Amino acid sequence: MRTLVFVIALYTLALGAVWAQEPARSPIDEQIIKQQKIFNSRGADVPEGYITGRSLASYLQLLPGFCGSLGGLGSSDRWLDIGAGAGQAILDYYATEDNSAGKMCSGPRGRARAVALSIEDRRTDKWHRLAASFGDGRMQYFAGRRLRQFSSEELGKFQVITDVFGGFSYTDDLSGFVERTLRLLDAGGAFYTLMQGVHLQDGKDNPNTSYLTELVDGAGGDVKVCSWLKRIACVEVTCESKSNWQAPTELIQVKKVCGDVSVPPIKLLKYEAGDPPGRRFQTEQ
Ligand SMILES: C[S@@+](CC[C@H](N)C(=O)[O-])C[C@H]1O[C@@H](n2cnc3c(N)ncnc32)[C@H](O)[C@@H]1O
Repeated sequence: MRTLVFVIALYTLALGAVWAQEPARSPIDEQIIKQQKIFNSRGADVPEGYITGRSLASYLQLLPGFCGSLGGLGSSDRWLDIGAGAGQAILDYYATEDNSAGKMCSGPRGRARAVALSIEDRRTDKWHRLAASFGDGRMQYFAGRRLRQFSSEELGKFQVITDVFGGFSYTDDLSGFVERTLRLLDAGGAFYTLMQGVHLQDGKDNPNTSYLTELVDGAGGDVKVCSWLKRIACVEVTCESKSNWQAPTELIQVKKVCGDVSVPPIKLLKYEAGDPPGRRFQTEQ
C-alpha cells in the first residue's frame, strides 16, 4: 500500500513538472482558438453574424465588376471562391433558369470551372447532388484547410478570384494572404473582395465608427486598406467606398497586370475573434 501511495505521489509530481513547462498561450493565440470555435460552430451555436450561405445575387451586390468578369470566362477558365461557406454562390452560378444570376453572368463561351475553399465543411446534400450531376469536377470544394495550407501547384491558376467575408476578412496574416491569392491569379485576372469596418479611401466614414480592421504605420497613423493595396507591385486597385452602409465598407477590385506580384509585409498587432474579427496591423512605412 505504501509503495502505491509513493508511486502516485511521484506520478503527480512528474505531471506537475510537465504542466509547469507548457508555454503560456499569447493573447492572440487565445483569440485564434476562439475564432476556430466560430468556424466550427453548428446549428444554434453559429453566431448570428456568421453568414455562410450568401447567394450569387448577394455576391454581385458586394463585388462590382464581378458579373462582367464571370461573363468573359469560357468553359476551360477557372473561378476560385476563398472562404466560400456553403458554396451557395457557386451553386447559383450553375443554375440554368432564365432569370437566374448564374445565367445573367454567363457569357457565350460557357460556364467556368469553380473551386470553393472553406476551413469548415458547410456543404449541404443539395451541394453534393448538384456537384455530382455536373460531373467531371466542374465544381470542387476543399474543406479542412486555410488558403496558406495549399501549394500553388495543388490549386492551379485562376482567371477570377472572389472573397466575400472570407479569408481576407478573417486572416491574421493579411500580407501573406493577399500575396498567395494574387499568385494564384493569371496575369489579366481579377480578385474581387471587400472589407467592412475600415477607414475609407474617400475619407467619408464617420470618425466615431468602431473600426474592425485597422492598419497603422510605424508612427501609429492610419493607413487606408486601399492605399496599402495600391503599394503592391503588378496590380491595379479600384475601390468603391460605402460610407452610408451600417459599417463603412470598401468594395475592392484588384486586377493583376503582370506576373511579379510583391506585397509589402504587414505585422499583426491585435486579433479579437468575431464575425468578422477585430484586427490591427502595422505597415512597414
Ligand atoms: C462568414 S463565412 C462567408 C461564407 C461565404 N463567402 C458567404 O458570404 O456566405 C467565412 C468563410 O471564410 C472561410 N475562411 C476564413 N478564413 C479562411 C482562410 N484563411 N482560408 C480559407 N477559408 C477561410 C471560413 O471557413 C468560411 O467558409
